[in-house]
Amino acid sequence: MAIEAFAPAKINLTLHVTGQRDDGYHLLDSLVVFAGIGDTIRVVPSDALTLEIDGPEAGGLSAEPDNLVLRAARLLAPGRGAAITLTKRLPVASGIGGGSADAAATLGAMSKLWDLPMPGAKQVLTLGADVPVCLSTSPARMRGIGERLDPVPPLPEMDIVLVNPRVAVSTPAVFRALEIKENPPMEPDLPCWRDLPAFISWLGGQRNDLAAPATAQQPVIGDVLDALRDAGALFASMSGSGATCFGLFPPDGHSAKSVAKAVLFLEHPEWWCTHGRVL
Ligand code: C5P
Repeated sequence: MAIEAFAPAKINLTLHVTGQRDDGYHLLDSLVVFAGIGDTIRVVPSDALTLEIDGPEAGGLSAEPDNLVLRAARLLAPGRGAAITLTKRLPVASGIGGGSADAAATLGAMSKLWDLPMPGAKQVLTLGADVPVCLSTSPARMRGIGERLDPVPPLPEMDIVLVNPRVAVSTPAVFRALEIKENPPMEPDLPCWRDLPAFISWLGGQRNDLAAPATAQQPVIGDVLDALRDAGALFASMSGSGATCFGLFPPDGHSAKSVAKAVLFLEHPEWWCTHGRVL
């Protein structure tokens, strides 16, 4: 029996850094959504715990024991064997949760395979601050360092274009470079957005506090945002600590596709670029 799980890209539509804990981790207030673009985890029972990585982005990753997929498997079922295949489509270390999404999908697939309960919230968090939200794969307001999750009002339908300029960004380095650690959170109660224009207008008043330090380290992030805006994105920002940026488009099935395929792909074939629906 094989179990497959989809590990969708995680996108921080907003990311407010509101403080720092004594252990150095930063407190966040972030509106997180997922896209119909992602990696796949396939698990079959086996004597030993093994990991094979294929897919277009497999080159960025090695199947070492500290790979998040293997760490997740050992956390859920210490000592049990499984042959895991990770099909990697999301660029590694790019601010869209690839490793956390893979870890969450592994937990989901392995708990199904063996009918085991999920590890507790505290244990899940030890895999990474984004793993709890990646377990839900539905829109959420994420606070604390990633452990506090609240549902959000229904979001309008929208398409998304993701662009990564193929530069590596170190998350700890971006957090360290952040000058002001205590920034205002989002409003206590998120509004009920009437439609896509109302949502876009609300987003215009939000921030990703990591965009400035990430862009200072990798100025090409500014070029990506300009390209998305020039191409007609209703809203464009960076996800997580970068360098992946996103542009939002009407859910008409062709705007995001034509921007991703024609404009960006032809103008910047050296960038990673894809499109999908916000889940
Ligand atoms: O939890 P994760 O392994 O994804 O985080 C990578 C690094 O990013 C942490 O070691 C920490 O330096 C930084 N980080 C942070 N505050 C968060 C999440 C991550 O300072 N809320």
